[in-house]
Amino acid sequence: MCGISGIVGFENISKSLLNSIRNLEYRGYDSCGIAILEKGYIKIKKNIGYVDEVNEKEGLTNLTGRTGIAHTRWATHGGVTKKNAHPHISCKGDFAVVHNGIISNYHTLKEGLKKEGHKFLSETDTEVIAHLLEKYYSSTGDVEDAFRRSLNMLDGTYAIAMITIYEHEKIFCAKNESPLILGIGNDANYVGSDFNAFIDYTKNTVVLDDKEYAVISKEKYIIKDIRGERVNKEITMIGWDAEMAKKGGYPHYMLKEIYEQPQAITNAMNVDRKIIKEVASMIMDNKRTYLTGVGTTYYVSLLGEYYFSSLTGSHLTAVSSDEFRNLAEVADKTLVIAISQSGETYDTLNALKYARKNGAKTVAIVNVIGSSIARMVDIPIMQGSGPEICVISTKAAISQMIILLSIVLELGAMKKKITVKEKIRIEKELRRLPTVIQDILNEKSGFIHNIAHKYSRIKNWLYLGRGIYYPIALESALKMKEVAYIHAEGMPGGFLKHGTIALIDENLYTVGFIPPKEERDLYPLIIGGIEEVKARNGFVMGFHFGDKEKDYKLFDEEIILPKVDKVIAPFLQLILGQLFAYFTAISLKRNIDKPRSLAKSVTVA
Ligand code: G6P
Repeated sequence: MCGISGIVGFENISKSLLNSIRNLEYRGYDSCGIAILEKGYIKIKKNIGYVDEVNEKEGLTNLTGRTGIAHTRWATHGGVTKKNAHPHISCKGDFAVVHNGIISNYHTLKEGLKKEGHKFLSETDTEVIAHLLEKYYSSTGDVEDAFRRSLNMLDGTYAIAMITIYEHEKIFCAKNESPLILGIGNDANYVGSDFNAFIDYTKNTVVLDDKEYAVISKEKYIIKDIRGERVNKEITMIGWDAEMAKKGGYPHYMLKEIYEQPQAITNAMNVDRKIIKEVASMIMDNKRTYLTGVGTTYYVSLLGEYYFSSLTGSHLTAVSSDEFRNLAEVADKTLVIAISQSGETYDTLNALKYARKNGAKTVAIVNVIGSSIARMVDIPIMQGSGPEICVISTKAAISQMIILLSIVLELGAMKKKITVKEKIRIEKELRRLPTVIQDILNEKSGFIHNIAHKYSRIKNWLYLGRGIYYPIALESALKMKEVAYIHAEGMPGGFLKHGTIALIDENLYTVGFIPPKEERDLYPLIIGGIEEVKARNGFVMGFHFGDKEKDYKLFDEEIILPKVDKVIAPFLQLILGQLFAYFTAISLKRNIDKPRSLAKSVTVA
């Protein structure tokens, strides 16, 4: 999703500005550009493509100046073209803006401005902001006043950064429902859509709230609300350092983050017990509880739904946050637990807003400190997974699953659905999980690499699971789609015979997510499903724990996992799903960390 950066400093900032949008690349984008105040004029360079490509083509760093803004764009209004790339400029070239979000009334504003003689160069909603600024400035001659008036005209969502020829050493920025934070440095001050924009330069940040704006110069910053009243804000220190966010020797962030899962699990197990217990009590006290997220976090929610049902006897409903308003019955005594790595996903934010408006209590499991979701809910559970840079979620997702399972265990014990002894036993198993995963990563990666390479030409996969293995199959299939651009369909094994079985012949490839045999209810069922596939000449790859009872060959290919307790077994299969997708994508030479059309945090509807 789009990224914003702005720097005002003592020296030429063009290289730092370029570096800062490079650090925002992980959000996903299709074009980029920068605007710098050079000798009193605004100079803009932009184009479609990756930051380094655009720099090579356009010479972004040839600009020189001490005040500038930059942007990575992910097209929403208007196609992927050079003209639609940000920054956008007013007719006279006196104001340049970059913007994230959507100005919902832009059409009306644009028509009005056109009638007044403004000439538009792009199809974007953003460009109206530059023209509005020009219009109001021409009547008052006061930049801040023109900025405030322009903001008051905008409906919709925005994070905006603006420079002008009338104030050479200032950046004006504002926020409404799209994230924007300030970075307070020694030699410069910064603005960014997230702290990766300036993490190489400062760890001191000030988070803006909705309908606030800031005027930053190299030595100070002033924050006001949209009516012009001063707002005092504290500076917070970001705990993550730039080095942590770098690849650390791995070829891709995705692989690095897959390998960071043992640590992410340990961190998740160490989340404050008091909060976990509090959330478990809230579930007890409320009439109904929803789990919500979208994409991976919806599958995490679904996994949670299975765990709650099987270990606590409470049925919580998992709802994809993009459909939350259409499905959920939110009233008094409703609890909504949202799950989001970025804490900025529009659909999930929107579901939470709806929930709050209708009187629900809200909790979120979230990774990014200071994110909109973390700040909006009654109780934020910070998962502490560290920065997840790859667009595809791996370590954040497993950590969310562990946190949900911790709540499940507390609730199960409170409701006496599991004994204290059983709870302690499961927790002990979970504490072993990081080592078991580490061993699998060390011992199986090479083998999975080879298998993934062998089957990388396969265009369609069916991923079958039952019970708790069904959300694991869904999440594994999503990884395959996201990173390898290969169609993979997750399905409950029992559902197969109700339609999809018609597809099966020697050309359809299936992965069976086979639980350990101790899962007495699930094991025979999934084996039954696999036999149905085999009977129709389908190819089956088994992810299993070495439980063999048949003397004929059930699997055409297999990845065998070590025998572990059934509680931690699903997580091991998740790791296989991630590695299989990653190595398939490697074989197909995909853009691993920034797959096409995807964005790390989707902040639009
Ligand atoms: C985007 C990403 C998905 C991610 C989803 C939820 O669609 O492409 O990979 O699962 O957002 O993101 P969140 O930050 O809310 O966990």
